[in-house]
Amino acid sequence: MSTFPNAQPALAVAPHDDDAVVPLDPSRLPPLGRLDRSAIQAIVASGRRLLIQGGMGIHASDGLAGKLAAHHGDRLVGVGTVSAVVKNPDHLRREIRRARAEAPGGFVGVNLMAAINKSEFESSTRIAIEERVSFIVQGAGISREIIKWCRAANIPFAGIVSSGRLAAMYEKWGADFVVAEGAEAGGHIGDIGHPLPSLVDEVVAATSLPVVAAGGVDASDVARFFSAGAAGVQMASRFLACSDGDAHPNFKQMHLGKTEAEITLITSCVKGMKARAVRNPFTDALARGERFPPRSKAWYFGPEGFHGRKKACVECLAEELCLCRASQFRESFCITDALLASCIKGDVEKGLFYTGSSITRIPEQTVAELPSVKTLLQELEGRLAVAEPARVAAAG
Ligand SMILES: Cc1cc2nc3c(=O)[nH]c(=O)nc-3n(C[C@H](O)[C@H](O)[C@H](O)COP(=O)(O)O)c2cc1C
Repeated sequence: MSTFPNAQPALAVAPHDDDAVVPLDPSRLPPLGRLDRSAIQAIVASGRRLLIQGGMGIHASDGLAGKLAAHHGDRLVGVGTVSAVVKNPDHLRREIRRARAEAPGGFVGVNLMAAINKSEFESSTRIAIEERVSFIVQGAGISREIIKWCRAANIPFAGIVSSGRLAAMYEKWGADFVVAEGAEAGGHIGDIGHPLPSLVDEVVAATSLPVVAAGGVDASDVARFFSAGAAGVQMASRFLACSDGDAHPNFKQMHLGKTEAEITLITSCVKGMKARAVRNPFTDALARGERFPPRSKAWYFGPEGFHGRKKACVECLAEELCLCRASQFRESFCITDALLASCIKGDVEKGLFYTGSSITRIPEQTVAELPSVKTLLQELEGRLAVAEPARVAAAG
């Protein structure tokens, strides 16, 4: 067993160990549900809607998916998403099986991004298919190959879109649903000028696929997106501020008590895209044009490195998309360093804390006050019962 001298106790699942053990025996776990188009239509016909926990790399969403997928309420069906980003095969399998054990028969998907290193993209897709996840959702770039792989393996597929045009294309290519992600979302944002309410209207008009609304959604506006025709909502940042996820307590605290002035947009090393994050010394340094080349990640990935890569740069992104690597490390910053520093080390000075615009509305001020996912979902059910008392009754 390798040791990780700097590993933080907050990480409940070790990221990597030499035993390469996947602790949960899949033959003892019931299969996950399939979240395909007809399953979603049946949920909507029953008067319920989806509440999807958005995938959050790097490791920000670890430990959350099963808690979401275990929820089957009067108005909401919970769906968990495991992020495949910067996970070795065992870690990815463990996260999926952990969620499967927590939510027997529930809906648990895997989030993949076409912007990541191609071989990891392929191997993570293969693992998600082997584990028979409920769906695979693709963000940050478009790979049509993954849709073909999903179709061949009979795994439902979803695309993340920032326009009606792309939604219509995904429908043509055979997707089961689309996630319309607006400018209010956390992390990388495709189109900083496209607010969610108008995007949902545009996407609902452009496709007959079920549409899930994402970006800045919280308990106060869930009902409004359902009225606009969405089959569900996706929330991510709010689940960072829950008691159950594996993120470091400092990471959770960074999302509490924030004002709009404390949220900022940075230029990411990923294609120079804009990304939303909590303002801190690291984002201020980026704004001044400072660069942060990759450092050794041996403390996290262990002596074997990441997928066998032992260099400081673990080549997490497709080469041409990484401004840092493309500039021979003379510009930009290492995103794996910065996100591991925030989520795993809880380094409030050097970490990058991706977040959505809705965190300014989180009422809790301290980590000790944070609700569990279960409590949060019960509160949401209660809000919906008041906001739209007739919906479930009307569906019979
Ligand atoms: C910390 C963080 C990391 C994220 N990472 C990813 C990711 O790896 N892939 C992805 O498709 N979306 C990612 N997102 C976007 C979320 O899945 C989600 O769609 C969006 O944040 C929803 O908005 P909300 O956070 O305001 O609820 C991330 C968001 C955050 C806050």
